[in-house]
Amino acid sequence: MVPEQARRRAEELRREVHAHNHRYYVLDRPVIPDAEYDALLRELQDLEAGFPELVTSDSPTRRVGAPPLDAFRSAPHAVPMLSLDNAMDRAELVEFDARVHRFLGSEAPVDYACEPKMDGLAVELVYEGGTLVRAATRGDGSVGEDVTANLRTVRSIPLALLGPDTPRLVDVRGEVVMLLPDFRRLNREQEERGEAPFANPRNAAAGSVRQLDSAVTARRKLSFFAYGVGRLEGAPVHSHTQTMERLAEWGFRVSEHRRRALGTEEVAAYCREMEERRESFPYEIDGCVIKVDRLDLQERLAATARAPRWAVAYKFPPRQAVTRILEIVASVGRTGAVTPVAVLEPVGVGGVTVSRATLHNPAEVTRKGVLIGDWVTIQRAGDVIPEVVGPLVERRTGDERPFAMPDRCPVCGASIETPADEVVPRCTGLNCPAQLKGRLRHFASRRALDVDGLGAKLIDQLVDRGLVRDVADLFRLDETTLAGLERMAEKSAANLGAALRRARAADLGRFLNALGVRHVGEATARALAAHFRSLAAVMEASEEDLLAVPDVGPEVAARLLAFFREERNRASIERMLEAGVEISAPAKAAAAPVLVGKTFVFTGSLATMTRDEAKARVEALGGRASSSVSGSTDYVVVGEDPGSKAERARGLGVAMLTEQQFRDLVSAAGS
Ligand code: IVH
Repeated sequence: MVPEQARRRAEELRREVHAHNHRYYVLDRPVIPDAEYDALLRELQDLEAGFPELVTSDSPTRRVGAPPLDAFRSAPHAVPMLSLDNAMDRAELVEFDARVHRFLGSEAPVDYACEPKMDGLAVELVYEGGTLVRAATRGDGSVGEDVTANLRTVRSIPLALLGPDTPRLVDVRGEVVMLLPDFRRLNREQEERGEAPFANPRNAAAGSVRQLDSAVTARRKLSFFAYGVGRLEGAPVHSHTQTMERLAEWGFRVSEHRRRALGTEEVAAYCREMEERRESFPYEIDGCVIKVDRLDLQERLAATARAPRWAVAYKFPPRQAVTRILEIVASVGRTGAVTPVAVLEPVGVGGVTVSRATLHNPAEVTRKGVLIGDWVTIQRAGDVIPEVVGPLVERRTGDERPFAMPDRCPVCGASIETPADEVVPRCTGLNCPAQLKGRLRHFASRRALDVDGLGAKLIDQLVDRGLVRDVADLFRLDETTLAGLERMAEKSAANLGAALRRARAADLGRFLNALGVRHVGEATARALAAHFRSLAAVMEASEEDLLAVPDVGPEVAARLLAFFREERNRASIERMLEAGVEISAPAKAAAAPVLVGKTFVFTGSLATMTRDEAKARVEALGGRASSSVSGSTDYVVVGEDPGSKAERARGLGVAMLTEQQFRDLVSAAGS
């Protein structure tokens, strides 16, 4: 009989581990450190070992790795992609070497090939006759996901092997990583778009490889490093080192920090050196991989079900440290996200002095049970801002106090709101200095008020010199002031002045979009404009009024209400009107009923128009264009070389149109 308590705990653990698996493998956004996840999984394994009746077929302990995403075809590996045993310290390296000797029955020192352990996503690339025919993720080791279309966009993956001496068939294995400069840029962009940054380069790489839309993968800069082969036919090699040399000749990037080492002394010295130098590499490494170099010896050593006996991964210790939280402050990001940040007694972690660490969001502060004054473990995961792992409860003195999120923005004083289904609180202030530059860039952008000539550099100058403190100040800038700015010729000042004057005659839809209320994008702004037909009506609308607009749900309504409730925002709009901004209602929509409220998704390339044009036509006729297929999609328009959206549409039974059928529909609707 299993005690009730154990049964309940096992159930709880299964649920938690499943949820973390999903966040980690499918969403690529883990919320807990790997070590905490490991502890949960281990607790479940222990429970199940004690009470085998508790094991269910869907228990997360019953499988290795993640399920392939439904949307990708599965790709079996001809030779399984095994994992590696770990060595956590020098003693375990010595143990590995001893086991190698035992198996080989020899005393002579073994030649090892040592390389950095790249921290990314393992993939396999199949080349037939020198041509890339398939790319797959590792998956569970025997079956991965077919990500050929995505990996073809990675520049460091040759589509055809180089050189006169290419093999008939080769499975090239290696790691897809995101280089640190590319990672930093991506996270900056994510932030600018108001999207959550990636926790580390590994998650960013994994998330990018598993994009359903390969155009997105192409924009994320990924790099591939080869570290081995599966099948290899028609290219004789005798050692791992030779394999790597051949891979380099065939056009692959291989680690420049590879080295041969004889015996454990040299291996340990190599590992030490890599650990010291890791900070200077442009990519993340989390250890070293030590491989028996000679292939004939590798064959004799062979593998267990899980891992080869001829290789081991030496894992670097996590970059953690213990220090005290002096204060927890609310920090406002460029998109208005308000993040609790721990101010720390400065401490060295992996060669870097850390004095601030993120607590992500208020829910995390509660979940981790962190108090101001606590001694905490912090860690540097990847290259991002260090994070607080958790408190050392036994070191509490009783003087610790809890953190409370302020309800007013510490930078501008506007209200802070946390939308119902989100965890990130945000400042609602239109003119919050923390967000002003981003707000202005959006305000002036092509799809908002389209102020030609007002670019990011100019906005920086205007804000940094205190010439613009409020969006409304834009409309009061005169040409003399503009001409006084750096790199501003008289002619361009005159042009910009004219552009700003033109922008004063604003269309209501564009103006609402320009305000940058979260979740109120172009389409929603246009729907609001068509419905209310005046700015005053939008500003005074009740929740009920707002919900009557197609395209507006409770979430968007809440954002609009919070934005217009804020006195500072109303005052700023008032100042814009005083400065001569005149907002015009849209012309009466002449939408034919057939497209109104219908959702379209486009896949593949269209021959007679760009995707933006097609979307614009749909929206002009009262329809909506969306980027993903769901149960509420009405039509999927299938162009040349359609992607997985077409398959998904077929699966969901959504109506599919050819380009010609789409054109007919649009012209019948009065375009
Ligand atoms: S060799 C059978 N070499 O580490 C040997 N793996 O658990 C297979 N990795 O996810 C791997 N750098 O993607 C090898 N230089 C390297 C590596 C490396 C990173 C990853 C690999 C896999 C994990 C092995």
